Amino acid sequence: MHILCGVLLLVSLVLGHSWSALNKEWEEWKIKHGKVYENQTEIIFRRAVWEKNMQLVLRHNQEASAGKQSFTMGLNHLADMISEEINEKLNGLKQEEPIHFRNGTFKGMSGLSMPQSVDWRKNGLVSPVQNQGLCGSCWAFSSLGALEGQMKKRTGVLVPLSPQNLVDCSTNDGNHGCRGGYISKSFSYIIRNRGVDSESFYPYEHQNGKCRYSVKGKAGYCSNYHILPRGDEKTLQAAVASVGPVAMAVNAMLQSFHLYRGGVYSVPNCNPKFINHAVLVVGYGTDRGQDFWLVKNSWGTAWGEGGFIRIARNKKNLCGIANFAVYPTL
Ligand SMILES: *[C@@H]1O[C@H](CO)[C@@H](O)[C@H](O)[C@H]1NC(C)=O
Ligand SMILES: *[C@@H]1O[C@H](CO)[C@@H](O)[C@H](O)[C@H]1NC(C)=O
Repeated sequence: MHILCGVLLLVSLVLGHSWSALNKEWEEWKIKHGKVYENQTEIIFRRAVWEKNMQLVLRHNQEASAGKQSFTMGLNHLADMISEEINEKLNGLKQEEPIHFRNGTFKGMSGLSMPQSVDWRKNGLVSPVQNQGLCGSCWAFSSLGALEGQMKKRTGVLVPLSPQNLVDCSTNDGNHGCRGGYISKSFSYIIRNRGVDSESFYPYEHQNGKCRYSVKGKAGYCSNYHILPRGDEKTLQAAVASVGPVAMAVNAMLQSFHLYRGGVYSVPNCNPKFINHAVLVVGYGTDRGQDFWLVKNSWGTAWGEGGFIRIARNKKNLCGIANFAVYPTL
């Protein structure tokens, strides 16, 4: 219902007038998202981007309310940025080396009937959504999300782990801090280091820092990690159902992803070959006949459905969702 109200508000804004109403909306949006710009040039540029995005969102949501789109878009905190900026600054997942794209060996539930839907949040395996800020550290949030789930299964306690620990300390393993990294190399670091600190011990700072790992703050560990067979949504489903949250890579290049608000994300042009963002699958299900993956992002709770996105499932590996799925073993 609130989606419809949002659409109506925007329609009246754009059709009914009025510069002052648009200004009011802009001022409110800036306050809501804590936006402060340095100079007049910057203000004019950001305002122009924001207005363009408002038109896009409006058009898209009109189609959604006419039943032509399965998801809505909204003016979240990224609405003053152009897609190129977002892809450069936030989507720091590096292409994994081909050696990792061997056939996986997952033998979880084959033969068993899988549950129709899974939501690991209900079992307490998923920590609160965080915001990576303007730092390409998605790979750290994604891999730690998978480890948090396995640690909770082992210890019975859900402890948020420290992405900053990985940003600062896994350079020798091939990661590049805020300039990007790999899911596989996050686990390599944790194995080599024999642990990773908790978020509360080693809090997130939105930027590169020097390595301050201490065994005193250790709250997670793993001994190995498993890569699922490439592009195989059925095996990913089996893994999510039996193992828990799984770290994975996705094509998050499109504006529709950046400004996603709610519903099942399905677009015709989300190429599985262009993987640039790491996220966490925490479940799956079906909504009005459309299968979806339930995915946790690290762009704060103002993005999507409280920080989560539902991405269409069994649509030929849409956005490459099953291209590189990984879970750790303790
Ligand atoms: C205005 O601010 C932007 C963003 O911080 C900066 O890149 C630019 O150089 C500034 N321009 C002037 C004229 O100060
Ligand atoms: C993966 O498995 C498929 C089907 O079993 C096979 O055709 C393919 O050659 C395998 N690829 C690798 C890299 O082992």
